[in-house]
Amino acid sequence: MAKPEKSWQKRLSGATDESAVHFVESLSFDQRLYKVDIVGSIAHAEMLAAQKLITHAELTAIKKGLIEIGEEIASGRFRFDLTQEDIHMAVEAALIEKIGDAGKKLHTGRSRNDQVATDIRLWLRDDIEIVQTLITHLQRALVRSAEKYIDDVMPAYTHLQRAQPVSIASYLLSFVEMFARDWSRLADCRKRLNVCPLGSGAVGGSTLPLDREKTAKALGFADITYNSIDAVSDRDFCAEYLFCCSLIAAHLSRLAEDWILYTTTEFGFIRTDDAYCTGSSMMPQKRNPDMLELIRGKTGGVYGALMAMLTILKAQPSTYNRDLQEDKRHVFAASDTMHSCLQIAAAIVSHTVFNTGRIAAGLDEGFLDATALAEYLVKRGVPFRQAHGIVGTLVAQCEKEGKSKLAVLSLEQFQAACDKIEADVYAVLNPAGVCRAYQTAGAAGPTAAAVQIRYWKEELKERM
Ligand code: ARG
Repeated sequence: MAKPEKSWQKRLSGATDESAVHFVESLSFDQRLYKVDIVGSIAHAEMLAAQKLITHAELTAIKKGLIEIGEEIASGRFRFDLTQEDIHMAVEAALIEKIGDAGKKLHTGRSRNDQVATDIRLWLRDDIEIVQTLITHLQRALVRSAEKYIDDVMPAYTHLQRAQPVSIASYLLSFVEMFARDWSRLADCRKRLNVCPLGSGAVGGSTLPLDREKTAKALGFADITYNSIDAVSDRDFCAEYLFCCSLIAAHLSRLAEDWILYTTTEFGFIRTDDAYCTGSSMMPQKRNPDMLELIRGKTGGVYGALMAMLTILKAQPSTYNRDLQEDKRHVFAASDTMHSCLQIAAAIVSHTVFNTGRIAAGLDEGFLDATALAEYLVKRGVPFRQAHGIVGTLVAQCEKEGKSKLAVLSLEQFQAACDKIEADVYAVLNPAGVCRAYQTAGAAGPTAAAVQIRYWKEELKERM
């Protein structure tokens, strides 16, 4: 069978060099747009028929052909020919082969420039919903785990030095907050990209009476774009999406880093099921957190995608340039990473337990109650700055005397440091008690944790 002619065959003489054909094609990676491409084409054809630019018989043939092509691609029967350049040309060529002349009318009033801009928006709209659902699953896993540890206390670190005691639940809920921001950032991004460029043509629009609102509505867009010059080259939403992914990756990476540390013999805070660990080919004793390390490592690829996208956009002259074809590689790659990392992170969270006994046994290390002691003095009228100094001196004294905690100092030693201290001071000097005594809204004690858990359970229930 003779090769179908390229649409520009009449303009360019001679065949494209084979190396150029391979260099320019995007079909190898943009075929995953096939569903949205077909959906977009059906909406476009329906509009063309409503505007009497094609007949109803032609519309019927186009729709039937496109649906068949969609089924062939879905079932793997469709033969992709990379010389077709991209998914748009591949589908159109297959349609013309299938239904003949009616197929040649599909591209009326349309350019691949507004077509691809529409396709990516449609694709991202769906993908954002998937990523949001995966975020919700991860958040639920974190909340379920938090519920088990409301009354268990762990050290919180600043500068990776022991800082204040916190509820393990509060620690887990801190990630629920981060992922909630990621969720709403995606919602924002989706809202901004949910406008339809179709009808903008190659750059200037069309002299045909296209009904842009009709196609936009049929495709579920909230509005049309309002400037064709901008519409065909706008990929801001790709950069925004990749930024959203980058922050998700950052949050996942921080969780991963914490847990990699927490699984060490030195910390021993958590244990993840064997199903989510790997061994070593040489050292028989090893239990490695490779999944967490990969989550951390894959962050690099996601940031790279954002950098690539921003750089692709930089200094492109108005308007559409083929540079933009590269957008999809990075969007797809980041999306794939998001899907796999969010899924595995949720599974790991669901299969990890905190070694509460061991954590509790170590709470006396690191003077976690020092700030609470300073606040004890504040409650007795000592200015905070002075209280800070008094407690600092007491901690230094403990260290000098080889005492690991403030509670072992005698009342005389306390009173020598400050005469406002009385025997009730010992009630303050225990990290778990300090944690229970937090009273500020959003504090990291069990009281606030329980409130947050109630909030998130309600909130996350509604999200699905
Ligand atoms: N494959 C192209 C892309 O992804 C489609 C648009 C090509 N338009 C053009 N005028 N060459 O950007």
